Amino acid sequence: MAQNGSAQNGSAHNGLLPGKDAAIPRPVEALQVRYKEIFINNEWQHSVSGNKFATYNPATGAKICDVEEAGGADVDKAVEAARAASQQGSTWARMDASGRGQLLHKLADLMERERLLLATMESVDTGKPFLHSFFIDLEGSIKTLRYFAGWADKIQGKTMPVDDNFVCFTKHEPIGVCGAIIPWNFPLLMFVWKIAPALCCGNTVLVKPAEQTPLTALHMGALIKEAGFPPGVVNILPGFGHTAGAAIASHMGVNKVAFTGSTEVGKLIQEAAGRSNLKRVTLELGGKNPCIVFADADLRKAVEEVQQGAFFNQGQACTAASRVFVDEAVYEEFVRRSVENAKKLVAGDPMDPRTSHGPQIDQQHFDKIMRLIESGKREGAKLECGGFALQDKGLFIQPAVFSGVQDHMRIAKEEIFGPVQCILKFKTLEEVIQRANDTEYGLAAAVFTKNMDRALRLSNALQSGTVWYGSTHMYTEITGRSHPKIFLRSDIAQCR
Ligand code: NAI
Ligand code: MG
Repeated sequence: MAQNGSAQNGSAHNGLLPGKDAAIPRPVEALQVRYKEIFINNEWQHSVSGNKFATYNPATGAKICDVEEAGGADVDKAVEAARAASQQGSTWARMDASGRGQLLHKLADLMERERLLLATMESVDTGKPFLHSFFIDLEGSIKTLRYFAGWADKIQGKTMPVDDNFVCFTKHEPIGVCGAIIPWNFPLLMFVWKIAPALCCGNTVLVKPAEQTPLTALHMGALIKEAGFPPGVVNILPGFGHTAGAAIASHMGVNKVAFTGSTEVGKLIQEAAGRSNLKRVTLELGGKNPCIVFADADLRKAVEEVQQGAFFNQGQACTAASRVFVDEAVYEEFVRRSVENAKKLVAGDPMDPRTSHGPQIDQQHFDKIMRLIESGKREGAKLECGGFALQDKGLFIQPAVFSGVQDHMRIAKEEIFGPVQCILKFKTLEEVIQRANDTEYGLAAAVFTKNMDRALRLSNALQSGTVWYGSTHMYTEITGRSHPKIFLRSDIAQCR
């Protein structure tokens, strides 16, 4: 690992990386992609159809490689393997819970060993800055595996007191075959967020990575085999949503499907589950997350945190700080500082340690973001900076700050999923609560104030699964805890 303390200079990384003195890892040079086939029963297999599809580097537009394309017939094979692996008497079903924990720890160890390669591959396939892949995605993935490894032998049932003639108890059992359909914004983290809890509890899994980003999931197949998971416990099916994804959602042999992605596809998944075997469904869809900054907040910190919330991962995050409500007393100052801060972001080659901002994932998504930026200008919001395409090659958008955003505008209502910060003005507490809640979404919210009474009041009043206080993007999934109502950032909480 090369040392280069100056690489993280300035605030371009918006406080996302470890301190200045931390060793700076370097990406793997001349990356070789070894695993491009479908992973079923711990074996690499060709697609039944013989089809392949290409995956591209969004920073350059260059093709990285072709990958075997799983379709319905491959899903059938994978379901058969996963069912056999979960049957009573199988090695996996007979393994004691601590054994499952040990395998998850072993997988985490192997990810540590391959951390540079996985981070490089993730950046090449998604365009996200390498340092972010290394310090955020890999760190979070490895910790998630270890977290669930610890849970494996600690999941207990209950006894219920009924009358003397009965002993009544609950026992937690695996659901069976779990399908996981994941998106392209955090391919490796999502892969681990889905498999770790399922495996911890003794299920078997089918994972369909997004068609834009199949590579790290496939590499994980090799590590899963090396760790010693029995054949059929994890099966990986690179392919498209309307074919492989739809086949998983409607399969009679799949007992549960977990999906992260668009609301539109979430509805299709739930319908398919209802039309087939009423499989259980978990959906994690979009957000239009309010972020409320009061006049008493530490403005410097608030500007930095909120902008990190808006631009992190090129804005491609469901919990992005996408509606920023600022107290009228500090509004002008907040906008001014946000513009100044946005200009410090360094867009460019994701492998360069100075780069803090990468390209969008693909042309279709880039076009959607540019259309929304145009709609913001047309509807009368003021584009303070950025919002234009950066280079001829690749899909870079200079991070945009809009002021004067009104609730009715499309940029204030629709999930942009791009580097666009929308700043709105508010006057009173009651008003901002009502406006923040006036949305179809309810994923996350953030509050910046030094007044703890107000923060606690908002944690109840805001209709969202998570309320952050003095921070954004603290992924609760990283710790495996689900939706705390309030998530304090200690240095700010101590201000009072
Ligand atoms: P998408 O929902 O189409 O794709 C997500 C996953 O679902 C991919 O693996 C895809 O292959 C699969 N899929 C697509 N159609 C399917 C179907 N009919 N049946 C089963 N699986 C299917 O999302 P897309 O098109 O990549 O992005 C569209 C918008 O969705 C984004 O602009 C963003 O607003 C939102 N999104 C939200 C994410 C989140 O983290 N919650 C992640 C990705 C997208
Ligand atoms: Mg789609």
